[in-house]
Amino acid sequence: MNIAVRYCSKTKFGNTRRIAEAIADGIGVKAVSIADEPRLQDKVDILFLGGAPYANIMAPELKEYAEELDPKMVSKVVLFTTSNWSRRTVLALKKMLKGKGITVCEDYFYAHMLNIDGKLEAAKEFGKKMME
Ligand SMILES: Cc1cc2nc3c(=O)[nH]c(=O)nc-3n(C[C@H](O)[C@H](O)[C@H](O)COP(=O)(O)O)c2cc1C
Repeated sequence: MNIAVRYCSKTKFGNTRRIAEAIADGIGVKAVSIADEPRLQDKVDILFLGGAPYANIMAPELKEYAEELDPKMVSKVVLFTTSNWSRRTVLALKKMLKGKGITVCEDYFYAHMLNIDGKLEAAKEFGKKMME
């Protein structure tokens, strides 16, 4: 199975990056920032995609990534997010991707921005579980 983990992480704390890395660790792949690789290079069976809200909206670059994601390049998307309170990034991404005909897993991973350390093991397990 070909799995990719992609994320958009903006703050100096790298909350979403750290969760992405834990998920990727559980799978045995490398988490890659969409800033470093703005397009999927290879077709994937599962794309783990994560981001966070900033002033109530997801980062424009993540929105663009989702908008430009080619449905032919991905069989299924699994979402994850970090935030202070909102899970709207997941909801917005789900709506956008489903609208493009992409299958989005109902289950997603959430970590509060102040409890990233406490969620790393669960994120790793989440990645593993999604492979089953
Ligand atoms: C400028 C700014 C605006 C934010 N706005 C929101 C918000 O509207 N809702 C929310 O739940 N969290 C908000 N947050 C919290 C971030 O979503 C949270 O810190 C997230 O984990 C950041 O992920 P990152 O470190 O990967 O960039 C905001 C953070 C910053 C720095």
